[in-house]
Amino acid sequence: MISESIIKTIKKARRIVVFSGAGMSAESGVPTFRDDLTGLWQQYDPMQLTTPEAFAADAALVWGWYEWRRTRILSVEPNPGHMAIAEWQKNYPLVVITQNVDDLHERAGSYNVIHIHGSIFSPRCIKCKSPHEFESTYLQPQDSGRRIDPPLCTVCGHLVRPGVVWFGEPLYEPDLRAAIFSAENCDLLLAIGTSGAVQPAALIPQWAKEKGAVVVQINPNPTPIDQVSDYNIRMTAAQALPQIVEALGFYDEA
Ligand code: OAD
Repeated sequence: MISESIIKTIKKARRIVVFSGAGMSAESGVPTFRDDLTGLWQQYDPMQLTTPEAFAADAALVWGWYEWRRTRILSVEPNPGHMAIAEWQKNYPLVVITQNVDDLHERAGSYNVIHIHGSIFSPRCIKCKSPHEFESTYLQPQDSGRRIDPPLCTVCGHLVRPGVVWFGEPLYEPDLRAAIFSAENCDLLLAIGTSGAVQPAALIPQWAKEKGAVVVQINPNPTPIDQVSDYNIRMTAAQALPQIVEALGFYDEA
């Protein structure tokens, strides 16, 4: 059960930020980064697949992994946690910042989602940066995954790369600035389903806290965010968020 004091605290907030990580999509069936990889990918550490060097060394392996992940994402649905946030955002102008490259917040109905690690649905040319349209919006989910040659840019002919932030790459400045601005100007930040392991994203709850926001964490496990959170809800996103939104009743007493 979500405590009365947490609900009271949320009801008092006026500028709310939701900051989500891979745990947000776990109950939809999208593996988190710390879950074991399956099939072809079992032999790889995600760190070997998510760097510019990995793509330069074997573009077909990296593109094949992202296509495997994209087809997995296309074959699952938003979970009750995504739906609850979308319902909440319909009634209250909260800002959604996500580290996830999936589109499950949007498919649940959330809007203006800030994808600080990019999106698997926005590939672009590695050279001229032109956006690339996928040939087909749906591919058969491939269980074990396979190498797939990346498409070529229709503008300049160079390789197309996934539209995500790789390790060793800077975050896209406008998204990072929007995320920092929102975190530093909110009075409540919900950190949901993130291990707080990857900088600078992991600093977002701390930035909010330093500017006086209340930080509420939703994660079944302890994380470094415990150091800055005022409340820790040891539940999953799909358990906790519908209960919170239900209890808010959209501020019927407001
Ligand atoms: P992680 O896989 O590092 O952490 C997932 C977190 O979600 C863990 O703390 C789990 O305890 C928690 N969790 C698991 N299931 C959950 C559930 N059902 N409800 C709530 N929480 C749950 O994922 P991230 O923190 O998002 O970076 O990883 C951060 C970044 O590391 C990713 O964005 C990616 C990765 O490398 C880039 O792609 C640049």
